[in-house]
Amino acid sequence: MLALSLLLPACGNASSRAPALSGGSAIGQGLYVPHCQGCHGPSGTERGDAAGAAERDPSSAASTILGGKAGMPTFAGTLTPEQVSELLAYLRTL
Ligand code: HEC
Repeated sequence: MLALSLLLPACGNASSRAPALSGGSAIGQGLYVPHCQGCHGPSGTERGDAAGAAERDPSSAASTILGGKAGMPTFAGTLTPEQVSELLAYLRTL
């Protein structure tokens, strides 16, 4: 939690600048930009291949998002399972 509270202010309100997308990916993008883009970059490929993992193995990617992994914070207390699904759907569009 400490790492998260330090990280989130640094990510700022970037979501308000994000272009609109259609359907579920707009929700996913609204979550990705403030929570994930700072580490994984706009294409989801920096610091671990988040976009590729969502494509190859969504259930393992979901556990990484909720539980964290070497260098990746846990989002279990921050994101609901529905939000994780939206994120995976967005990652697969990257
Ligand atoms: C503080 C930086 C940081 C943030 C914020 C972050 N991640 Fe990660 N993430 C990492 C690192 C580092 C790894 C690679 C872990 C490893 O060594 O396998 C990773 C791995 C992943 C993986 C698995 C990649 C693989 O190859 O197995 C996924 C999926 C992922 N992140 C998604 C997300 C999502 C979605 C968010 C936002 C909710 C997010 N990450 C936020 C740093 C971060």
